[in-house]
Amino acid sequence: MSASLLIGIDLGTSSLKTVVIDSDGRLLARAAHEYPIDSTRPGWAEQDPESWLAATVATIRQALDLSGIPAAHIAGIGLSGQMHGTVCLDESGQVLRPAIIWADQRSASQVQQVYDLLGSRRLGELTANPLDTGFMLASWLWLRENEPPVARATSHLLLPKDWLRFRLTGNLGTEPSDASSTLLFDTAARSWSSGLLEPLGIDGDILPPIHQSAQVAGGLTAELAMATGLRQGTPVVFGGSDQSCQALGNGVIEPGVISCTIGTGGQLFAPTRQPAYDSELRLHLFCHVLPEQWHQMAAILSAGLSLRWLRDNVLTEMSYTQMADQAATVPAGAQGLFFLPHLAGERTPYMDPSARASFIGLTLSHDRSHMTRAVMEGVVFALKQGLELMAELGVPVRQIVASGGAVRHPLWLQLQADIFDRPITQTKTIEAAAVGAALLAGIGTGVYADAHSAVEHTVRGGQQPVLPNPQRAARYAESYETYVRLFPALQETDVFG
Ligand code: XUL
Repeated sequence: MSASLLIGIDLGTSSLKTVVIDSDGRLLARAAHEYPIDSTRPGWAEQDPESWLAATVATIRQALDLSGIPAAHIAGIGLSGQMHGTVCLDESGQVLRPAIIWADQRSASQVQQVYDLLGSRRLGELTANPLDTGFMLASWLWLRENEPPVARATSHLLLPKDWLRFRLTGNLGTEPSDASSTLLFDTAARSWSSGLLEPLGIDGDILPPIHQSAQVAGGLTAELAMATGLRQGTPVVFGGSDQSCQALGNGVIEPGVISCTIGTGGQLFAPTRQPAYDSELRLHLFCHVLPEQWHQMAAILSAGLSLRWLRDNVLTEMSYTQMADQAATVPAGAQGLFFLPHLAGERTPYMDPSARASFIGLTLSHDRSHMTRAVMEGVVFALKQGLELMAELGVPVRQIVASGGAVRHPLWLQLQADIFDRPITQTKTIEAAAVGAALLAGIGTGVYADAHSAVEHTVRGGQQPVLPNPQRAARYAESYETYVRLFPALQETDVFG
C-alpha cells in the first residue's frame, strides 16, 4: 500500500479525537481522549495546551496500535480545532499561561469597550462579525488590562489548533477559517485587520502569518515522531476551524447545502461565495477552509449542553437515551411548556452574555418527560431563529444536513424536521470535524485535487431523509411565534440583571 492514508485530529472543547481514513473515506481507526475545562473563577474557561498535546500523542498511538497501520502508510496529518481561543507564547515559544478558550466569559467589559470605541457598524465593516467573550480579541484585551506581565512577555498569539501544529512541526502560522474567528481579522480580505489593530493599539507582529487551510505547514518533528510512532517529516497541513472541518467532512461546501450541528453548542453553517454579512451582527461570517469561500454561521451556546444540564442537575439518574425516549412519548409542544436554552448567555440572535435560560408555562400536569421535550424543542426553536435570519439575508437553503452528537437519537432529527419544516438529511461520516481535517491533509499532499474531489471520493449519503410531519409542523409554527416573543418579554422585566 502506498502512503495514502490520512490522519485527522479534532482538538475539541472536552476531548481530542483522532481518526485514520483511507482515500475513499473509510474510517480505519479512531481514538478519543478527554481533558478538563478549568474554571478557577465563575465564568472562566481555561485549558492547559500540554493536555491537548498529550491527548494527540495518546490518540495517535492508540489509533495506530488498534488498526495495525504502519506509520509509512500515513500521507499526511490535518488539524481541526475549537475556535476563537487564545494561547500566549513568549519569544522562545514557551506557553506563558493556560489557554483562554472560547467558552470563557471574563471579557464582557472588554467586549463593551470595543463596541464603545468602534461602534457596531465599524466593527462589522472591519471584521464582518459581532464580538463575543472568549474570542481572541476580547481575551487579549483582558490580558493586557489584567495580566500586564503576561501581555508584555507575549511574542505570539495562537489559536488552539495552531499551537498544536506549532508543537508538531515547529511552524508558526494560521489559516483563514480559524483566524476569522478571532475578530482580529478582515474576513472579506482574508488578512489581519490593520483597521482594527491600529485603533486598539495591538501590535500585528504577535499574530502569525496566514496560509491556505490545505497547505502543508511542515513535517512532523523528530521528537513528536518518536512520541507518536509516526514518521519524522510526515506532512502536517494548516487545517481549519472545527466548524468548517465538520462541514467539509459532511460535504457541506456549496451554497444551498447547510449543516445543523447539535453538539455542546448548536450551529447552522451555510457556505457562501461572497463575504456578505448581517449588518445587524446577529450572525457570524467566517472563512471556509476552501479558498475564496466563506460561511454564514448561527451559533447558540447551550444545545446538547441544555440536555446535559437537565440530566446532571435535575434528572440525575437518567441516561440521554432514556430521557429522549420519554420525551418522544409527549405530544409536540410539551403541553404548553417552553424552555429558553440560554443557560450561559447567548450568541445568535441576541449576542447577550447576560441572557439566562427559563422554563415557562409549568403546570401541575408537567413531569420530567415534558421538561426534557421542552428543552429539546427549545434548542431547535433557538436554531430556527438562526435559520430565519439566514432566510432574511437571502442565504439559499436547499438541503439541511444534521451533524453532531444529536444525530444519535431519532427525536432530535424529527424535531429538526418538524420545527424547520424541512427534510433533514445525514451523511455516513463519523467524527466529521476530524474527517474534514484528514481531507485537508489529503488535498495538501496531493491525494485529492481539491475539496470537491475529496468530498466526491469520501462523503456518502446516510439513511433516508427524515421528513416533517405536516400536523406537527403546523403546531410548531404556532409555538414558534410564541417562543420568539418570550425572551424579549423577559428582558423587559430586568430579570437578567
Ligand atoms: C463556534 C464555536 C464552537 C467552537 C467549539 O463559533 O464557538 O464551534 O469552535 O467547538
